[in-house]
Amino acid sequence: MVNTRKILITAALPYANGPIHLGHMVEYLQADFWARFQRMRGHECYYFCADDTHGTPIMVRARKENITPEQIIETSFREHQRDFTDFGVKFDHFSSTNSVKNRELCEEIYLHMKEGGHCEVRPIRQAYCEHDKMFLPDRFIQGCCPSCGSEDQYGDSCDICGATYSPTDLQSPHCTLCGNAPTEKESDHVFFKLNHFKDFLKEWVPSHNSKEVTKKLNEWLEEDLRDWDISRDAPYFGFEIPGLKDKYFYVWVDAPMGYVSTTQEWCEKNSRDFREFWGEDSIAEVYHFIGKDIIYFHSLFWPAMLKASKIRRPSGVYAHGFLTVNGTKMSKSKGTFIMARTYLDHLDPSYLRYYYGCKLTSDLNDIDLNLEDFAQRVNSDLVGKFINIGSRSAKILQTHFENTLAKSMDSAGEKLLQSAVNKQESIANLFENREFSKALVEIRDIADDVNKYFDELAPWKLVKEDKETTHKCLTSALSLFRVLGIYLQPIIPEISRKMAELFNDDEYFWSDLEKSILGKKLNDFSHLLQRLDAKKLMTIVEASRPSEPEKQPSKKEENQYMDIKDFQKVDLRVGEVLSAEAVAESDKLLKLQVSLGNGDERTVFSGIKKQFQPEQLIGQKVLVVANLKPRKMKFGTSEGMILMAGDDGDLNLITAPSAKAGQKVE
Ligand code: 2FM
Ligand code: ZN
Repeated sequence: MVNTRKILITAALPYANGPIHLGHMVEYLQADFWARFQRMRGHECYYFCADDTHGTPIMVRARKENITPEQIIETSFREHQRDFTDFGVKFDHFSSTNSVKNRELCEEIYLHMKEGGHCEVRPIRQAYCEHDKMFLPDRFIQGCCPSCGSEDQYGDSCDICGATYSPTDLQSPHCTLCGNAPTEKESDHVFFKLNHFKDFLKEWVPSHNSKEVTKKLNEWLEEDLRDWDISRDAPYFGFEIPGLKDKYFYVWVDAPMGYVSTTQEWCEKNSRDFREFWGEDSIAEVYHFIGKDIIYFHSLFWPAMLKASKIRRPSGVYAHGFLTVNGTKMSKSKGTFIMARTYLDHLDPSYLRYYYGCKLTSDLNDIDLNLEDFAQRVNSDLVGKFINIGSRSAKILQTHFENTLAKSMDSAGEKLLQSAVNKQESIANLFENREFSKALVEIRDIADDVNKYFDELAPWKLVKEDKETTHKCLTSALSLFRVLGIYLQPIIPEISRKMAELFNDDEYFWSDLEKSILGKKLNDFSHLLQRLDAKKLMTIVEASRPSEPEKQPSKKEENQYMDIKDFQKVDLRVGEVLSAEAVAESDKLLKLQVSLGNGDERTVFSGIKKQFQPEQLIGQKVLVVANLKPRKMKFGTSEGMILMAGDDGDLNLITAPSAKAGQKVE
C-alpha cells in the first residue's frame, strides 16, 4: 500500500437560493467518486461542503415572499442534504456559510488583507432603485441592448448579440423588481488589490491547475489584474465589514471561506486541529472541485486572498464542464431542467451515478446526458453486463452447490481473475486522475471477458453433465463478480454494498482485490437493480415541464395590470359634446368643447378627424376620462379624453344617450 495521504476535498457550495438539479449533480458525484476511491485506497480523506447562503438574490426573494432569508436557507439546508444523501453523496460534514465560524474567519482574513496594504476604499457610481431603496446588481437591471437594440436584456450582456457593456449603457433601463428607471448613486466600496499578487499567481497557477485551465488563466495574467470589489452596500444579506457602516462582504468573499469554516467545525466536533488542513505548513492535500464558470474565483481571487491572510493554498483546483441534456442546454420548457428530487422520485440513483461515471473525464468538456443513451447504457452495461454475471452464477450455485464455492478454479477462470486483479494499478491511476470514463471502459472490458467465458462454458447446461467443471466455472465467475464490485464501488457504492452482502464482505478496500474467496459459503443472491424503464424516464421529463400558466409575469409585465384601486382612481364621466371643430393644422385632431355638468366645461383634443365630421359629434353623450392630467399640445391644452371602441380604421363613439352630463360611469 502506498503511503497514507491526508486529503481534503470540497465541491463548490450550492446556492441556498434554489434546489439541486442534475447539472449540479455532475460535480457532487464526481467529487464523491474521487473521495470514495481515496478512502478505499486507505487514505485519510474528508469531503466537505456547505450551503452558499448570502447575496442579493436571496434577500430579494425573502422580501418578495415576506419571509426572512434565514427561513429560506433553513429549508434549503434540509432539502439539499436530503438530495445529496439520497444520491449517495457522502459528505463528512455539510455546513452553511451563514455560520459564526465563517463570520469570524472572514473578519480575520479581511484584517490581514487590510493590514497587508491590499485593500483600498474609494467611491463608485452604480445604478440605484429609489423605489426598492437598493443598489442594483447587473442582473437586476434590464433594458434595450445598446448594440443590437434587443429588448429585455440584462445590465451586463446581451443574450441575443452577445455584446457586453455596463448597465449605464442600456437604453430605457428599468429595475427588474419594480419596473422603474434606476437612478445613479455614489457610495464607497472596498477593493482588493489583486494585482499585488500577480507574480505569486503567475507561479502558482500552472502548478495547481490543468494545462487547459492554465492557458485560460494566463490570458488574464498577461495583463494587469483589476482591483476586485469585495464590498456591497446595505441592504444585503451577508456579513458586515468590521469598521465600516452599512457595508457587507461580497458573497464571493465568504463563500470560499466556507471551505475553511466547514473544516473548522468538523475539527471541533472531532477534536482535531484545523491547522492540520489549513495551516500554512499543513501537509494535507486540499482539492477544490468546481465548474468551469467559477475558475476565476478559485484560481485567482481565492489563492490571492489566502496568500494575503497566511492560510495555505489548495493543492489543486479541478474544474469540469457543464451538463447538457440531449445535446443542448438544460431547458425548462423541454422538461430537461431536471431537479434532483424529481429524478429521485422516479429513478434509482445508481443509474445516474453510473452514467455520469461513463461520461466524466478530467477536462473541461461539457458532458451530455442523452436520455436514450442513458437508458441503453444502464440496461445493457449495468444490468446486462455486470449484474447478470452475479445473478446467473449465484442462482446455479444456490440450486446445485449449496451456495458454496469450489476450492479451486479452472485455468481459464484463474487467468481471467489474475488479469482482472492485475489491472488494479492502471484502474487506480485512472481514478486518481479523474478519468472515470476510461476507468469504466477497463472495468467493462473485464465484464465482457467474464460474460464470454461464462457463455462459452454454459454452466446452466453443463451442470447436468459435469458438476465439477460447472462448480469451478461458477467459482471463477463469482470471484470476478466480486472484483467488479470492488472496482465499481466508488461509482455505484449501493450496488457494490449489495454485492458485498452476497459474499458476506464489509465495505471494500482496494486491498480486498487480493483476497481469495475459494471454498467460501455465500449468502442467497438478492435482487440488485431493476432495468431502467423508458416510460419512467419520460415521466421525469414530463414532471419537469412547467405546468400552465407557464411563467409568472415579470414585474414589467405585471405593470401592465392595475388593481381595483388603480381602476377606482379613473374618474369616468358622461360628457355632452357642446361644439366640435377640425384643427386646421392637424391631420388627426378635432377640438371639442365638452360639458361635464355643473358648469364644468372642458376642451378636449381628440385624434378622430379622419373618422368623424364635427357635426356628427355635437349633442352626443360620450364617455370622458375626466381626471387625466391636462396635456399641453401645440394647439392648446387637452383637459380629458373621449373613449372610443375599435381601431383607427373603424372607430365607434361609446355613448350613453339617456344619461345626464356629469354622471359617473361605474
Ligand atoms: O457558483 C455557485 O453556485 C456558487 N454558489 C459556488 C460557490 S463555491 C465557493 F466558493 F463557495
Ligand atoms: Zn426597483
